[in-house]
Amino acid sequence: MANVTENGWEQLWLRYDKKVDAGNGKYFEAAPQLVGFDPENCVVRSALLELSRGVCGMLGMQMKAGDIAKAVAGADQASNGTAAAGADQAGNSATGASAAGEQGKTSGSQAGLVLKKVPEGTLTESGKALKAQGYALCENDGRLEITAADENGLLYGIFHLLRVISCEKSLSGSNVTCNPDNPLRMFNHWDNMDGSIERGYSGRSFFFENDDIVINERTKDYARLMASIGINGVVINNVNVKQAATWLITDRFFEKVVQLSKIFAEYGIKFFLSLNYAATIELGGIDSADPFDERVIAWWKAKMQECFAKIPNLGGFLVKADSEGRPGPFTYGRTQADGANMLADAVAPYGGIIIWRCFVYNCRQDWRDRKTDRARAGYDNFIGMDGDYRENVILQIKNGPMDFQIREPISPLLGGLKKTNQMLEVQVAQEYTGHQIDVCYLIPMFKEVLDFHTYCKPGADTVADVISGRTMGNKNTGIAAVINTGNDVNWTGNYLAAANLYGFGRLAFNTELSAEEILDEWIPMQFSTDAEVLRVVKGILLPSRATYEKYTSPLGIGWMVTPHDHYGCSVDGYEYDRWGTYHRADHLGMGVDRTDAGTGYAQQYNEPNASMYNSLETCPEELLLFFHHVPYAHVLKSGKTLIQHIYDSHFEGYKEAEAFAAAWDGLQGKVEERVFDNVKERFGRQLYNAREWRDQVNSYFYRKSGIEDEKGREIY
Ligand code: GCU
Repeated sequence: MANVTENGWEQLWLRYDKKVDAGNGKYFEAAPQLVGFDPENCVVRSALLELSRGVCGMLGMQMKAGDIAKAVAGADQASNGTAAAGADQAGNSATGASAAGEQGKTSGSQAGLVLKKVPEGTLTESGKALKAQGYALCENDGRLEITAADENGLLYGIFHLLRVISCEKSLSGSNVTCNPDNPLRMFNHWDNMDGSIERGYSGRSFFFENDDIVINERTKDYARLMASIGINGVVINNVNVKQAATWLITDRFFEKVVQLSKIFAEYGIKFFLSLNYAATIELGGIDSADPFDERVIAWWKAKMQECFAKIPNLGGFLVKADSEGRPGPFTYGRTQADGANMLADAVAPYGGIIIWRCFVYNCRQDWRDRKTDRARAGYDNFIGMDGDYRENVILQIKNGPMDFQIREPISPLLGGLKKTNQMLEVQVAQEYTGHQIDVCYLIPMFKEVLDFHTYCKPGADTVADVISGRTMGNKNTGIAAVINTGNDVNWTGNYLAAANLYGFGRLAFNTELSAEEILDEWIPMQFSTDAEVLRVVKGILLPSRATYEKYTSPLGIGWMVTPHDHYGCSVDGYEYDRWGTYHRADHLGMGVDRTDAGTGYAQQYNEPNASMYNSLETCPEELLLFFHHVPYAHVLKSGKTLIQHIYDSHFEGYKEAEAFAAAWDGLQGKVEERVFDNVKERFGRQLYNAREWRDQVNSYFYRKSGIEDEKGREIY
């Protein structure tokens, strides 16, 4: 099968099986002309290799990477007036003719593909200035040109071109400039060195096994997949750095770390590691991790010098401190800024960055105390030090103040911080959103986050503005996702979960893309260009987040999942609340009062958001129970009472899941059998899960409230 390699894993959207040629073959009859790029550069080489692989596979043209490289050399010489050498070297290029020689004759105007390096800031055909890692793709009279200011831009331009071919669209008349919106576009792996993955739902790690690093052909395919969606940074190990992972920054692992990072380098991806904040104790033999202790400072300086000297493609480090049992500066009475800055100073001489997570909260708090509120923690712990962080520190902030629930407000730190580099963290791994069993296309949720107005600065106040650097004019910013991959043949457990993997990268690159546009690319590339497949898969994915929300926890209250595992319903199951009171449900009503009469959380937002959330009248209804405690009889804008809404939405959610499963059944024979079977099997489990959620949530609140369903349906 075209989509499963000999090695036993899929190529996903890079499957490059035979496509209908929408008139694109003509650009590849001759080897491409490389202008200004160094054909020996490893990223350029990867780009050319990918081009030849894609064109061979999809258009059946025998374009060999070696030929391209030779032709490139020839074409370069040709444009310097030595055409004959070019013709010779072109050898057996695509047409078997002296392709590069012909290029040489008419360099600059002939048909074919031109890959051209230009200085950053150059105006493209569409009148935009090219930025770092951006590209322009332009077609005129059979001449297709990709211009870019650097090698990453070239690589992304090539992937763009291959995407168009894969979707069976024509390149003719192309005139686009694509600059990345976010400087850093990262995936965070939560892979442990024993091969397990924290919150992994698609097999085991392909980076680690038995406390060792694994490097094979799959590593390369992984890097290709990442580059194809514009990812330029990857953290390979879990933020909870324990045991062997602490040793990743030592000689025990350097050799393999370097090998791995070199593979990433070939695809323009910076290599990052999660750090154990207490490494001075665990590795250094020092009895402290106090950021003000001279011994600690000196140890990190020396360690970072060693790391950057040994790992050439190292971008920096990610740190989870003072959270869920991880060590941190709080132990020593220091602030988060003290800890982050100490490490930042140690990596600064090498251009390194420290990405410091804001997921700092006390998981042991007593939920019966109505003033204490986990949601407040991120802001309370970080806002006081706004502006105190070094330029090479980025604060990485989860999209919501709690923990990747199906519905949360946007973290008030985003845009609350006004002088600090910020990076958004979302979770593509479906920890609380169905474990890649239930279908849940997360891009609509991420779009809501990016489009949210924080009111931090007139005219540039959305989350997308803040994390792209548009708000503050800063460079160290971006977006990261906890990834959903593992060593399953299809990488993501459920084939449909690859939409989130693909979609995150595309959205990180271009935050303007719609959730639907992303599917219009991904479905034809990964499954089929058949219009019916596109219609059905879109029909399932686009509403799937709303459906999941309907049958799980209502109106922003969150959790209600089984403790620790986080799949399946358990209304009182929140593991950090052993009193079963976090949702504040009693016989009269439910919801957490986060107004100024309650925990005061709503006041953490910039105005007018603070007032909007604070008032029951203006609070967006989908977040009603996150911000307000309301009676079951409270009438919603729909005219329904809260309790009726809970009943109705749960019945509806289940029905919608049933409709998705039925729609998928209709694709039998239209998608490959193993794809069909995999998703069908997942739908079977989703339906069971959705029914459990429906019945447990409905019966819980029926028993609490004693209010009958107006429609007289059976509630257990
Ligand atoms: C959640 C998740 C943990 C993870 C943590 C984090 O709490 O359940 O497994 O370690 O987030 O983001 O650090």
